[in-house]
Amino acid sequence: MSKLVLNNGMILLDGELRKRNLLIEDKSIIGISETPYQDGDIIDCKGQWILPGAIDPHVHFRTPGGEHKEDWKTGSKAAVAGGITTVLDMPNTNPPTTTSERLNEKRKIAETNSLCNFGFYFGASINNLDEIETIDNIAAIKIYFGSTTGNLLVNDSHYLTDLIKKTRFPLAFHAENEALMKKNLSKVKDLNKAGARIHGVIRDEEVARSAVEEIIALASDHNVKIYLCHVSTQREFELIEKAKQSMDIYCEVTPHHLFLNEELLDRIGHFGKVNPPLRKEVDRKFLYNALIDGRIDTIGTDHAPHLKEEKMQEYLKAPSGLPGLETMLPLLLTEVHHGNLSIERLAQLTGGNVARIFSLKNKGSLAPGYDADIVVVNPDTSYSLTSERLYTKVGWNPFEGQILYGEIDQTIVLGQLAYKRGRFFNVHGEEVEYDTRT
Ligand code: DOR
Ligand code: ZN
Ligand code: ZN
Repeated sequence: MSKLVLNNGMILLDGELRKRNLLIEDKSIIGISETPYQDGDIIDCKGQWILPGAIDPHVHFRTPGGEHKEDWKTGSKAAVAGGITTVLDMPNTNPPTTTSERLNEKRKIAETNSLCNFGFYFGASINNLDEIETIDNIAAIKIYFGSTTGNLLVNDSHYLTDLIKKTRFPLAFHAENEALMKKNLSKVKDLNKAGARIHGVIRDEEVARSAVEEIIALASDHNVKIYLCHVSTQREFELIEKAKQSMDIYCEVTPHHLFLNEELLDRIGHFGKVNPPLRKEVDRKFLYNALIDGRIDTIGTDHAPHLKEEKMQEYLKAPSGLPGLETMLPLLLTEVHHGNLSIERLAQLTGGNVARIFSLKNKGSLAPGYDADIVVVNPDTSYSLTSERLYTKVGWNPFEGQILYGEIDQTIVLGQLAYKRGRFFNVHGEEVEYDTRT
């Protein structure tokens, strides 16, 4: 059995960074000690932070059907370069992941190509309840309550009630109100003259708020876990926070809704087009404060890559979505550097909470018995984000030019070095397992 040792680093233990040494055997952490280990392949981590690899609960790796935008090789490279060791992939591919056969095809592709660990969402369609009842080993069922990239849309309340009653899995929602969106769109006279901010008028805060309200009303009397993806406004957040008193409900926020607002659209046009849209500064600020206060459950990148030439088209043709795998952890580490966010909270948001909500087995913590999914960080190194540091196929990122603190030095996936200072190694991630869910 191979042994890997990380000596002399500052390890995140019980919410604090402590000088410790860490021993990995095969795929697992087997020891953490105050005295350095002598036996095995030794990496000296003096001056470095050793954190649990981040778990990204929300990515779009575009396979099948969109491999020109991303595939499992490029997507997982971007992940490990960003300190992410596990991703949960969305079902709005082409064709969508709505049958067990398609899910198994995706599994095979990820097994062969992914450097990081992976799990899958299964898409709800209007006629796949039978499949949903037989499916296994998935993170959650994804419901597109409003339409976005792809053709999955399920917002019939009778069907959803049926699904809510029958599911054994958490239900994850893209929450936008389809009818209201259409109504708002029909009011716009000349879309191409309207400017890029029109996206936030069509998909306004009421589009999001009313969808969240409806979802809570549908689920509130049932024993089901609800996961609201990419919450982007104060009003949605407050509805969820209230519902938490009586429901098993969680809220995810994206880095772009935390760190960017609608003003960016004046500068980068439809490159900033995303569903839900970038919001007003008051909403961004509200979410940022909720993050700092520990009221947000998870951060998901919603890594949704589209090519530059696709994004440069006119409003209706330009697809929605932003890449984000390389920048999530660095943006949060920058907040830690500035003294705004504690390292403990960072680890909860990007690991511990995600593992708990999705029942991921042996993930999200650094302790003996847990999987050796680890990121080693140079805490004091600062750099400007340039496209040379991007590995996503699309080669752009909305945070380009930003100064970031806390560089990802090495990423270890299941006890094997996957990434080190711009180099990648030939490792294979594995599909996550789930603890028994009731
Ligand atoms: O902007 C978005 N892009 N929002 C989504 O919900 C889907 C995503 C994509 O897949 O492109
Ligand atoms: Zn979505
Ligand atoms: Zn998404």
